[in-house]
Amino acid sequence: MDNTSDFKDFYGSLQLIYDSALINIVSRLNIIRKYKTANGYRDPIENIKTRLKSPESMKKKLISKGLEPVSENIPGNINDAAGARVICTYVDDVYEVANTLAAQKDLNVITIKDYIKTPKTSGYRSYHMIIEVPIYIGEECHNVRAELQIRTLSMDFWASLEHKIHYKHDIPSRAIIESELRRCADEVASVEMNFITIRDMINAAQKEDER
Ligand code: GTP
Ligand code: MG
Repeated sequence: MDNTSDFKDFYGSLQLIYDSALINIVSRLNIIRKYKTANGYRDPIENIKTRLKSPESMKKKLISKGLEPVSENIPGNINDAAGARVICTYVDDVYEVANTLAAQKDLNVITIKDYIKTPKTSGYRSYHMIIEVPIYIGEECHNVRAELQIRTLSMDFWASLEHKIHYKHDIPSRAIIESELRRCADEVASVEMNFITIRDMINAAQKEDER
């Protein structure tokens, strides 16, 4: 297990830069939430988690790309040293949050992978963005990249469950488990559409009531 000093030893001055980028991104997300609730709307975000990639898995990733496992090789080569996972209530919240961020002029969208529109063969669903934000540290401005994973509660539940078989070898029932997971992913996607329909029906009923 990594500890604080491992992070410091490996990342050096990059740790402050990536930590600051995550503070910046979380702040942007919290302002979206504030703006929503201040205007009488529902908060679209359930929770936000951030992480700096562990030195151990960062070293593995650098080596897999044919690079020396040193932090100097991260900027310009690896986009997910800093990561934020944003859990939304409904599927349409995912797109609203993503589009609101993307519209910010000082935030650069580098790539988008929409695994909600096009799920992975595993059944994985999530909206991924690599973004770049300007971070001022002392006199200098750094353009820092981070990976955003935006998904619903149900997609997150599925991903956590599926993640458990990722690092397990020699499971005889793997094929069955994988096909069950794919089936669940389809069912979750369908149920989530129903959630939106029900939500909208409740809202319409409420509006009718208020008239
Ligand atoms: P990495 O090099 O692994 O980061 O993949 P990538 O550059 O192709 O990016 P991608 O957007 O496909 O995946 C990035 C991250 O999404 C992974 O590190 C996982 O956290 C998550 N992810 C992607 N596919 C799956 C999946 O099938 N199951 C689960 N549980 N998580 C996934
Ligand atoms: Mg990754």
